[in-house]
Amino acid sequence: MKPEKLEELKKEVRALLKERNAIMLAHNYQRDEIQEIADLTGDSLGLSQAAADSEADVIVFCGVHFMAESAAILAPEKTVILPRLDAGCPMADMINAEQLAAEKAKNPDIPVVAYVNTTAEVKALTDICCTSGNAIKVTESVAGNEVYMVPDRNLAHYIARFTEKKISWWDGFCPTHENFTLEDALRSKAEHPEAVLICHPECRPDVVDVADHVCSTSGMYKYAKESTAKKFIIGTEIGILYKLRKENPDKEFISPSKALICPNMKLTTLEDVRDSLRDMSNIVTVAPEIQQKAKASLDRMMAVPRD
Ligand code: 13P
Ligand code: SF4
Repeated sequence: MKPEKLEELKKEVRALLKERNAIMLAHNYQRDEIQEIADLTGDSLGLSQAAADSEADVIVFCGVHFMAESAAILAPEKTVILPRLDAGCPMADMINAEQLAAEKAKNPDIPVVAYVNTTAEVKALTDICCTSGNAIKVTESVAGNEVYMVPDRNLAHYIARFTEKKISWWDGFCPTHENFTLEDALRSKAEHPEAVLICHPECRPDVVDVADHVCSTSGMYKYAKESTAKKFIIGTEIGILYKLRKENPDKEFISPSKALICPNMKLTTLEDVRDSLRDMSNIVTVAPEIQQKAKASLDRMMAVPRD
């Protein structure tokens, strides 16, 4: 797109946001131009909380479906727009409510911890939610010696390194992080021996084994800012590089694999944002009985003390 056209489009979006009393939230993996004009960028849960706290009537959630749903769960009185309704999360779609109900029936006494990357229907069946940033604390907070984790086997594997509890899990995964291999990680480390390798816990366990630091997307911004290192290999979706580079102009950030692009996160364009706001289309809603149960699971997570 020609630079003049892009500027025109950004102005159009900003004007529509004002007209609709809307805020635009963008996940850390969104396209650069989306992150650039958003009111707020962040991780999935931080953005959903921001949606709930906001005074706006309309939330334009530039991310994937489960994130917009989380905003609708936490802020049911607001209108939540997902500019591309086809922007899903393959990992969240790897388990549905029927499948989880069948698992629960096999082991009714084991508490279920759900990563926020789940549908509202699945959240509604769980004891407590977690994010990649608080999964260990949440697991520790649950009564008993066992938990069942859905849907991410890699996050479950990661948590199991830090707890005495017995962890069992649903065999889901994020295709984007799964395709970042140990070979990619080792090649990148060999090419940049002075760099620090930071990975998301959605990465495969053998990749986590060779990482220097493992954390959520929000954790990566904090770590990069506070570290004295000058070069970082970033083991998560490439969209995160936009703000890492902007916030740390004196530091270098490298993506170790061409696989680290989430096609769903890249679907949303500024045209989609403009069109959905103009037409007030692509609204995400959650049925009230599901919303209440899913919110209870998210609220229990929010009540777990942070550091
Ligand atoms: P965050 O919870 O850090 O936003 O990550 C969500 C996600 O989809 C990671 O792949
Ligand atoms: Fe889902 Fe993976 Fe994309 Fe995150 S990066 S939205 S977990 S598919």
